[in-house]
Amino acid sequence: MSFKDSKVVIVGCGNVGSTTAYTIINQGLAEEIVLIDVNKDKSYAEALDMAHSIYFMNRNINIHAGEYSDCKDADIVIITASAPMPKDSSSRLDMLAPSIKIIKSIVSSVMESGFNGIFLIISNPVDIMTYMVYKMSGLPKNQVIGSGTNLDSARLCCELADMYDLDSKSVSAYVCGEHGDSEIVSWHSAVIGGKSVENVMKDNPDRTKNITREDLQKQTIKAGWDIFNRKGNTCYGIAASAAAICKSILFNENHIYPVTVGLSGQYGIKNAWLSVPTIIDRTGAKEIVEIRLDPDEEKALRHSAELLESFYGELGL
Ligand code: LAC
Repeated sequence: MSFKDSKVVIVGCGNVGSTTAYTIINQGLAEEIVLIDVNKDKSYAEALDMAHSIYFMNRNINIHAGEYSDCKDADIVIITASAPMPKDSSSRLDMLAPSIKIIKSIVSSVMESGFNGIFLIISNPVDIMTYMVYKMSGLPKNQVIGSGTNLDSARLCCELADMYDLDSKSVSAYVCGEHGDSEIVSWHSAVIGGKSVENVMKDNPDRTKNITREDLQKQTIKAGWDIFNRKGNTCYGIAASAAAICKSILFNENHIYPVTVGLSGQYGIKNAWLSVPTIIDRTGAKEIVEIRLDPDEEKALRHSAELLESFYGELGL
């Protein structure tokens, strides 16, 4: 009898990569975690620091710095590395040009190892980067996932939970499309305790105040910038979102999360990579769920797809 240890490799040990590793450790999601960074002192030190935390955790986890050859038998490779956000930028799309080279070299190195697991891309602009990793890796679509609007959906649920003084987990809402300005909210599927958000807003004017669905959508888009503009990065939300996606893969949970996947005709979109609700199991993106969108939401989703596709030519693939 033999058991294979579950193994997650994280490429990029900045705030996002390190916090993702630490979140996975805290939740005890994998047996082995490997950190890779161009700055080997950084990956060594982050791994050593986290290794000392294991003493106080629920379970033993082997965390260490490593090399791309470690990806060979990894279940998941998470890419968080990217170029720094250009100064005074207000769009993740501005990171595209400087990040292309970095991600390309990472994907080649990972694939050289013989990797055949699941890529989870976090690097921004995440939707375009996820497409690029799919094209470069040659892996099937289900083995390439981007963190996409999973975090934006959580941010919207948190806003609604704040308004009505609830646990955010009692709110269910999907933000779809680009992880960025053209994202959309599927209001039809937004529910609080089984009641549509539309009716909750209407039936609770004192708590709703005069906040509209448009205000909520704008605030969801703005939330990342509210953090970034004050502390120069976001890390906890995105790390928790990435850990949740990993959990659904490693524990074969079949959880539905809105993540960046390659569409093949769903929602009338043929080739673009963007976020829609997706069943995630040990095979990765097992199945795309087609939820009901209002006609204007569907139009906006297609617009988001066209916007993202308009950048594919710049990738030099
Ligand atoms: C954010 C980054 C991950 O929205 O894009 O926090």
